[in-house]
Amino acid sequence: MLVGVGLGPGDPELLTIKAVKAIEEADEVIVPGKLAYDVVSRYRKPRLVEFPMGMSEKVEDVLSDELANRCVEEDVVFATLGDVAFFSTFQHIATKTREKNPDVEIRMIPGVPSFTAVFSKLNLFVDAPILITTPELRNAEYVVVLKAKKPREIARELEKRGYDRFVIAERIFMDGEYLGEIGKAGEIEERADYFTLLVGLGI
Ligand SMILES: C[S@@+](CC[C@H](N)C(=O)[O-])C[C@H]1O[C@@H](n2cnc3c(N)ncnc32)[C@H](O)[C@@H]1O
Repeated sequence: MLVGVGLGPGDPELLTIKAVKAIEEADEVIVPGKLAYDVVSRYRKPRLVEFPMGMSEKVEDVLSDELANRCVEEDVVFATLGDVAFFSTFQHIATKTREKNPDVEIRMIPGVPSFTAVFSKLNLFVDAPILITTPELRNAEYVVVLKAKKPREIARELEKRGYDRFVIAERIFMDGEYLGEIGKAGEIEERADYFTLLVGLGI
């Protein structure tokens, strides 16, 4: 298995217990940079694989060749700062590894993202929509709606704004977790639990 682990914003005490367990139990832990190396070193010695500017693709190709072979029998952790699902090197490594060997199981363990952690640092509360982007300042290609108790109705509204695929995620990481199918607005569940996120994709 290939496991992407989010390390949080940099403080080794901001790792989750799941992240620490995955790091301790893996056959090997790979990190893509010195900062991630220092965080993981609190728990065990990782292998540093650097992705120098202009060389990233080559490094990804070589590493994904290796992982495509190893990760059927072995569990390898690839650990990145913040949350591993966001703007992370793991995306390229996981995608290439799966292309080379679809039998490799990919899992992700979320970490505290820098862009939510910053608000705790600033002592600011967020109770309004927020755009997370890069210097390209593109409009949001993803939308996440909290408190989505009437997901189909919300999906239909989002459809008018250009989003075209939706999925609900109910009680994630809780008892009774339910992940819907990705579908058009009309295919989305009509009612859901209070602990539901509606994810819209597209634009
Ligand atoms: C490749 S992205 C990785 C984002 C990461 N996966 C996350 O969830 O936070 C790198 C960018 O994340 C932001 N970042 C990550 N850790 C940070 C930290 N501890 N303090 C401030 N910004 C941070 C910076 O804007 C940096 O340029």
